[in-house]
Amino acid sequence: MIVSANLKTNLTRATTDKYLEELNKFLNDTSSSQEVIVFPAMTSLNKQNGSVIVGTQNAYATRNGAFTGEIGLEQLEEFGIKTILIGHSERRHILGESQEELVKKFNFYKELGFKIVYCVGEPLEVRKAGDEDMMKYISAQYKGIDTTYKNLIIAYEPVWAIGTGLTPTLEDIQKIHTELKEKSSAPLLYGGSVKVANAKDVLAVKNVDGILVGSAALKVEDFCSMCEDAQKLEQ
Ligand code: PGA
Repeated sequence: MIVSANLKTNLTRATTDKYLEELNKFLNDTSSSQEVIVFPAMTSLNKQNGSVIVGTQNAYATRNGAFTGEIGLEQLEEFGIKTILIGHSERRHILGESQEELVKKFNFYKELGFKIVYCVGEPLEVRKAGDEDMMKYISAQYKGIDTTYKNLIIAYEPVWAIGTGLTPTLEDIQKIHTELKEKSSAPLLYGGSVKVANAKDVLAVKNVDGILVGSAALKVEDFCSMCEDAQKLEQ
């Protein structure tokens, strides 16, 4: 399974290093065979040893150049980063990234062979409009994306469930994941208010291949416990 943590705008370089050290130690001590990915804040990217895959929460579709406030391939290469999160709802809705821009970014990093965790998910008003509208909305987020790309991981994250403590029912997660699996056979993660108390149940849902965890991953011991849940389910 794939267990991933999106640390967003939290922790510093020093506390992230400590976090990754503890996480790597835990995975090693427990002989974990899970694929564990962590997306730290950009200033916390650093060279890593250990089994944890470190990815960037964002990067511009460029090697380098005049893109104030952005980083490109050159900055990622310094730390050996080959994994990127694209299409997170906070980038779509707060930073205003369009589908067109995301596709450009996707294609740029795909050409370089990056592992891409690509996020999709609907806001509350769309969910309230019913299943048909919701699937139409999510389908539009697949537009232009190569769903057969071999290093693709998709994360379904309903916007209304992110950071709110609200989650869809397990039945709803299974239903949506089953439909999304028809669009792409890439591993499909669920994200949105996953925490220690519900990770095991979410991971056990059919067609859920892993989780993407935000706030509940900030404490390393909690994230370790979710990695352990995934390991137990596979045994
Ligand atoms: P959350 O965030 O776990 O805090 O809801 C998930 C995400 O944004 O990836």
